[in-house]
Amino acid sequence: MQQTLVLIKPDGVQRGLIGEIIKRFEQRGLKIIGLKLVWVDEKFAEKHYEEHTGKPFFKELTSFLMEGPVTAIVLEGKQCIKFVRKIVGNTKPQDAIPGTIRGDFAHNLGPGGRNMIHASANEPDAKKEIKLWFNNKEIFDYLRADQSHHYKK
Ligand SMILES: Nc1ncnc2c1ncn2[C@@H]1O[C@H](COP(=O)(O)OP(=O)(O)O)[C@@H](O)[C@H]1O
Ligand SMILES: [Mg+2]
Repeated sequence: MQQTLVLIKPDGVQRGLIGEIIKRFEQRGLKIIGLKLVWVDEKFAEKHYEEHTGKPFFKELTSFLMEGPVTAIVLEGKQCIKFVRKIVGNTKPQDAIPGTIRGDFAHNLGPGGRNMIHASANEPDAKKEIKLWFNNKEIFDYLRADQSHHYKK
């Protein structure tokens, strides 16, 4: 089973949409195996967005991530990295299809890239990001009662 990191960015938390966003993953059968609120500092924000270092929007992006608490989530499910990105939608809210999280709740990228949510892009990134945001004791292995429905043998 694959695991991926999702962040509800400060705009999503401040707009009171944590529950609405989490619901969308839960109802698709994705299992929450880690969940917390974190208020990151500059060093941490720069580490998370390391791959964008030097880009014109980097400073605004890291400042935005530090603006308030972020909801950090580890999701588990079959091929969930791609699947979660599909539920999240296009990076630019105006190109995000309605029905996706960005397509339903975000309007304009603007300075810092206010698009509600982050999701790991691929397997190496997911592994690296989960390790950055969570320690082993914060991730839980348990059985969801509806798992047999989602993964019928
Ligand atoms: N052109 C841009 N201007 C401002 N912010 C941007 C821009 N491109 C990306 N961002 C911000 O940087 C984040 C990381 O970019 P990227 O990895 O390309 O997108 P994604 O979050 O969809 O994986 C985006 O989610 C967005 O918040
Ligand atoms: Mg990305």
